[in-house]
Amino acid sequence: MTLTVAFSSHSPVESQVDIVVVGVYDHGVLSPSAQLLDNASGGALSRLAARGDLSGKQGAITRLFDLPGVTAPRIMVVGLGEAGGLDVPRYLKALAEAAKSLKAGNQVNVASFLGEVSVRDRDSEWCLRQQVVVFSHHAYRFVSTRGRKPGDHGIKSLQLPAGSESALRAGLAIAGGVALTRELGNLPPNICTPQYLAETAQRLATTLPKFSVEILEREEMEKLGMGALLGVARGSRNAPRLIIMKYSGAENADAAPYVLVGKGITFDTGGISIKPGAGMDEMKFDMCGGGSVFGALHAVAELGLSINVIGVVPAVENMPDGDAYRPGDVLTSMSGQTIEVLNTDAEGRLILCDAISYAKRFNPHTMVDIATLTGACVVALGKHAHGLMSHDDALANELLQAGEHVHDRAWRLPIWDDYQTQLDTGYADMANIGGKNAGAITAGCFLARFANEVRWAHLDIAGTAWDEGRKGGATGRPVQLLVQWLLDRAA
Ligand code: BES
Ligand code: MN
Ligand code: ZN
Repeated sequence: MTLTVAFSSHSPVESQVDIVVVGVYDHGVLSPSAQLLDNASGGALSRLAARGDLSGKQGAITRLFDLPGVTAPRIMVVGLGEAGGLDVPRYLKALAEAAKSLKAGNQVNVASFLGEVSVRDRDSEWCLRQQVVVFSHHAYRFVSTRGRKPGDHGIKSLQLPAGSESALRAGLAIAGGVALTRELGNLPPNICTPQYLAETAQRLATTLPKFSVEILEREEMEKLGMGALLGVARGSRNAPRLIIMKYSGAENADAAPYVLVGKGITFDTGGISIKPGAGMDEMKFDMCGGGSVFGALHAVAELGLSINVIGVVPAVENMPDGDAYRPGDVLTSMSGQTIEVLNTDAEGRLILCDAISYAKRFNPHTMVDIATLTGACVVALGKHAHGLMSHDDALANELLQAGEHVHDRAWRLPIWDDYQTQLDTGYADMANIGGKNAGAITAGCFLARFANEVRWAHLDIAGTAWDEGRKGGATGRPVQLLVQWLLDRAA
């Protein structure tokens, strides 16, 4: 299922693969590789284009077979739209269409020449890297819990024309991180428990360089006074874990680390404020923020970045039970601040606030938390942009830019103090919900009270972490954004 990617010096004409993928623009304008195939086959492509049988329309896919003078038995021609106007979204769409279409048909070994096109404001290294990421993305299939594994179709190896080794390595590392995040997200909640996540972290430590893991159990969290996290954990028989993953890549071992904190609710029933039944199964994805921390750290370690990065994942299940926490309860967080629980379904902020307080002991250079935190964020931004909140404009811009670069985009929402009063209550320092208005923002404001002096940002990925429906599944977002941001910091 993992895709092998390698450079090959073969031209599209003599490439010895099952299928060769080339691009063609609107109005029959051939890409350089398509032109080579056209020359070798005595003008087969241009003849088809001239009579309208070879579409260059954005996303159109045409298959050609047994072209004379061409070694590979199959050619896939991918429409790239108007020549000269290829921008990032269009390029990525073309790659995705090609990769998806390759799942059907009788081919295992693929040579793609889609990296030769020029994409506005991006260099050839970027094009190469994204090819690896996109093709790998579509080579992934969830099989872990399927008794009858789906048929063994799909591509196994990808050949690319010689290019930058480092871009290839980066593409593979990022693709691996994305795949790990997706797999953890897709696993069912009876398997992917807090303990399973902890064991996964420990497994990573045995294979990744400069990587170490520490796991805190309930007793240690009690000693630390993590009353908010432990309040949520009370309702579940699956005991909580606080997972700490350290990647020490900086030359100076003491260099202040970048800290990623990811919400790891392995299942969110809502607790006593129980959710409606329809679609509740999707709340297995409520650990995707934590999953993205696993994926980002995996990629960073494989890339060998010379920075220190620490991942902190509070892993907890939110269940209703005779011992569950309830609306009206007042919890004392590790920071000492008290919280009145007005809705047990606003649990993410409760586990994150203690994880953020804990993470301060590492004296972070910067802290970013990632969480499937609010349905309100989905209402505000839909399924395309992560919600980004920060008091630090420079940090917000770093993250926005990183997301823009790899098309894993975030959009900023304000967390002005004006919103803070929505969390007022007469029974504690704050309530855990802020009323019906601006739900994504009041959740961010809640977390800001715990991050306070730290250089911190919050990513609400409730809309972006997974695609809905039976054919949906974890997207692996925002691993690309996070890794790009860290690559930029390490540069
Ligand atoms: N995990 C959910 C947020 C969520 C909902 C993510 C739907 C993706 C899709 C979170 O724990 C939650 O339940 N939030 C509540 C907060 C509310 C009670 C203030 C919500 O958004 O309804
Ligand atoms: Mn919830
Ligand atoms: Zn939740």
